[in-house]
Amino acid sequence: MTCLHKKLTLMLCAALGSALAAASLPQTGPYPEANPPTPEKIALGRALFFDPLLSEDGKVACATCHRPDRAFTDGGAVSTGAFGRTGKRSAPSLINVAYRTRLFWHGGSPSLELQALGPLSDHNEHALQPEQIVEILRASRYAPEFKRIFGREPDLTALTQAIASFERTLVSYDSPFDRYQSGDAHALTASQVRGMDLFYDRAECFHCHNGNNFSDNLPHNNASELFNEDIGVAQLSGQDADVGKFITPTLRNIALTAPYMHAGQMKTLREVVQHYNGGGQANPNTDPLVRPLGLTDQEVTDLVAFLEALTDPTIATNKAFGPPEIP
Ligand code: HEC
Ligand code: HEC
Repeated sequence: MTCLHKKLTLMLCAALGSALAAASLPQTGPYPEANPPTPEKIALGRALFFDPLLSEDGKVACATCHRPDRAFTDGGAVSTGAFGRTGKRSAPSLINVAYRTRLFWHGGSPSLELQALGPLSDHNEHALQPEQIVEILRASRYAPEFKRIFGREPDLTALTQAIASFERTLVSYDSPFDRYQSGDAHALTASQVRGMDLFYDRAECFHCHNGNNFSDNLPHNNASELFNEDIGVAQLSGQDADVGKFITPTLRNIALTAPYMHAGQMKTLREVVQHYNGGGQANPNTDPLVRPLGLTDQEVTDLVAFLEALTDPTIATNKAFGPPEIP
């Protein structure tokens, strides 16, 4: 259809234009009213997420620690940022992060927009002052894009809005478990089905790892050993009762995100399940649901097999989750 100057045709063209825009908007999780996603904003956020431009040594991008082939974690027990400096915690997966209500292991950040400023200024991550970030962006090839999309020179608000919009597109609900749920009885092995029954019953996992993302988004002490002098939620609240509490992590794509827990202190899923089976390292704040479970070796194997079935095998090869193709 060509757009002529007649009024009616113009209206049709406008409708077609918005239909096309809507059609090319990727799938996205819930977003705040102040930051509605557009295809252009998402594309800009994606480019910035993969670009090491915004770091003190020019080598660290968000994607350095949140790698698509590892469901947006980095494979390290703790993360390594600018000039090889290491932090205290393990990088969490960003798949379905739009559905998390408290970000960071201690839950201290309420939105993806605010969260993004954390790594950018963290000495052990991107290590840039806010003024430096704005200066770099204004001199970069992204400046005209910011003007086009936000109607102004790059600033921190626009930067974090673009990155958050990209992060909200990292949505995946396609694992053997999901296929089984939607009626494909062959999607899970017999061992995985037995593991699922344990997960939702005798092993008590579902209380905290609940809902579609296997997280209640609440702080709990699961009796894992504290590492790197990290006291979890107590860091924010100052309360003894919060020592060793961390926000329940998602279990989606868990086969891709080893090592496990806030400091990567457990190397394998079997080690994690053995931890729960033994009741963990009991401490005054241990949640009563974490106690010796008495699972047999076969049951441990079944539970591990079920956890593996929560992984979407296409994440690593999903082009929309990877770096933009440079023409
Ligand atoms: C040097 C490694 C590193 C870099 C670079 C990095 N992150 Fe992270 N990211 C982490 C670690 C480690 C955590 C957990 C920190 C904590 O809980 O205190 C984290 C946490 C997060 C979370 C919270 C997820 C959740 O479920 O709680 C989001 C979102 C996130 N990062 C996005 C980003 C974005 C966007 C960038 C780029 C602007 C970025 N990260 C750069 C390592 C990194
Ligand atoms: C009382 C709440 C609670 C219960 C019950 C619970 N978990 Fe957890 N789970 C957590 C918390 C909190 C963490 C993070 C703790 C940390 O990092 O120190 C966690 C971490 C994990 C991790 C590591 C995730 C990652 O990204 O590193 C796995 C895997 C896991 N749990 C599986 C299970 C299984 C399987 C069960 C049942 C046997 C279970 N959980 C029972 C709260 C719970």
